Amino acid sequence: MVAETLNEDVKAVVARWKGKEGNLIMILHDIQDRYGYVPREAALEVSHQADMPLARIYEVLTFYNYFKLKAPGKFNISVCLGTACYLKGAAALIEEVRHILHVDEGQTTKDGLFHLQIVRCLGCCGLAPVITVDDKVYSAVKRSDVVGIIAEHSKNV
Ligand code: FES
Repeated sequence: MVAETLNEDVKAVVARWKGKEGNLIMILHDIQDRYGYVPREAALEVSHQADMPLARIYEVLTFYNYFKLKAPGKFNISVCLGTACYLKGAAALIEEVRHILHVDEGQTTKDGLFHLQIVRCLGCCGLAPVITVDDKVYSAVKRSDVVGIIAEHSKNV
């Protein structure tokens, strides 16, 4: 990411929302849409451009789960830990993903390929336990399936 481009982007975004109600959230939304997360340099530039304390910006960023402060992985693995999935062994699936990728919830692998998140119900409880990788849904997943699901995506890089 080139710093000048980022600063120009932030400047344009701040100008777009200037004077509008709830603009800080909209500014941060726009930045995340563009970069997939809100880089620290972008938050600093928002603070500068919008003349707002950095602490206020981080208050909003950390209050809403929606905002990501770290670069997402190329593939986003979501393991459901809603009731139906939990009862059918989702905890073991999370353990297996952690074991294979060496990441915890909310972390991205060092190679930037996989990001692990734990979610509460993906809305398809009849398929429990469920894992998604981006838009692809894996149903009735067994612990022994996890390695294959990850490998399927690793080879598509
Ligand atoms: S609890 Fe997992 S999909 Fe609903």
